Amino acid sequence: MSDDASRTARPDLPDTELAYETLAVHCGIGRGTGVGVGIPIQQIAAYQFDSLGAAAEEFQQGTGSSYSRIQNPTVKAVEQRISALEGAAETLCLSSGQAASFTAMLSACRAGDHIVAVSSLFGGSAGLLSNILPLMGITASIVANTPDAVLSAMQPNTRLVWAETIGNPAADVADIGALSDIAHAQGALLGIDNTWGGVGLLCRPLDFGADLVTHSLTKWAGGHGTAMGGSLSVGTRHDLSRNPIYSEGSPSLLETRGQSAFAWRQRWFGTSQLGMVLSPHSAFLIAQGLETLSLRLGRESETALTLARFLEAHPAVGPVNYPGLESSPHHALGLRYLSGGFGAVMSFEVQNPAAFLEALEIIRMAPNLGDTRTLAVHPWTTTHGRMPEVARRAAGVTPQSIRMSVGVEAAADLQADLARALGHSRT
Ligand SMILES: Cc1ncc(COP(=O)(O)O)c(C=O)c1O
Repeated sequence: MSDDASRTARPDLPDTELAYETLAVHCGIGRGTGVGVGIPIQQIAAYQFDSLGAAAEEFQQGTGSSYSRIQNPTVKAVEQRISALEGAAETLCLSSGQAASFTAMLSACRAGDHIVAVSSLFGGSAGLLSNILPLMGITASIVANTPDAVLSAMQPNTRLVWAETIGNPAADVADIGALSDIAHAQGALLGIDNTWGGVGLLCRPLDFGADLVTHSLTKWAGGHGTAMGGSLSVGTRHDLSRNPIYSEGSPSLLETRGQSAFAWRQRWFGTSQLGMVLSPHSAFLIAQGLETLSLRLGRESETALTLARFLEAHPAVGPVNYPGLESSPHHALGLRYLSGGFGAVMSFEVQNPAAFLEALEIIRMAPNLGDTRTLAVHPWTTTHGRMPEVARRAAGVTPQSIRMSVGVEAAADLQADLARALGHSRT
């Protein structure tokens, strides 16, 4: 066993099914005398070669270390950990969630191709689909979050269907199984942004038929609001045979690289060519965050349900969107696709968002999610503020909407803060 823990391809854990909590703290760390018990930071740009042959071999295979834009041992250890938690074959870490979504979309589409995305989307994803990808000749239809709407929008050139496990901020749950059937029926792929699913804790979309899964690691993975990062994971069952990027050419990418062509192209695009790399220091922070994700998100989900019930019963609060509420139209899908909780985020309407947000004394007005601290934001003017009004409304955002990501504080303190601020929002 190498004393460089992060070089260990697989930690020698018992060859049995292990629980999330066990994998989260052991994956990516080697074992043996003198091996550090943790993931070390390799804040290094380049790696030395003994011979020209070794250098040429590494640049061909890309399995070891050469240059940190291509591969870094700290980042690699986090990739192994995320693969274990998501049930993935391979994971690529990137500099942000936005970089992960962009790389995912580019790995399935080229000029002339089409994406069908559901409308309950993080504003940055909607921006990629509406503003950036069209510059490259890739078009998108953004439709209601139902299998019927997705089916109606499919075109012969549709290569990718895109949804979020739990939509930001509408808190609606994607019918992953149905979307995967629709995509696969015509040789397209299903991409799921699983950010709210907590790196496989609440949901593992690959198990339900998704072909690629992205995360903003900035959220529950890092978990403390201190690092930006993103990830893109793929399984083993994707069928690329009807996607010309992979099937055309002689030899085609599929012929030269087989099933790993998908992950290979993602790494080549996202990090090697576009340079959207995760820094080793951020990777270290994210690795640490992953170790306690289940403790945090489990507790946050419980508190979120308590607060959602409180808000639903409060006379100064309009509709509350949270899949854990029995009254939610997405409760049944939540029960089908989520386990161990319904997530830490909800949205709800108040009469006067400015007065409400400015009256909060514990909860902070800030645009992040998955922090240890409870954060609230006004999506209409911030996270979704650049989208046309019709798209904002389709994403479930109204001028009265508040999005709240619940942290690990005591539920009673949060509830008292909400009650106090709701008194101000009526004015
Ligand atoms: C669901 C979702 N996906 C992707 C992103 C983008 O992640 P990042 O901010 O790390 O680029 C966010 C950010 O809020 C998000 O909420």
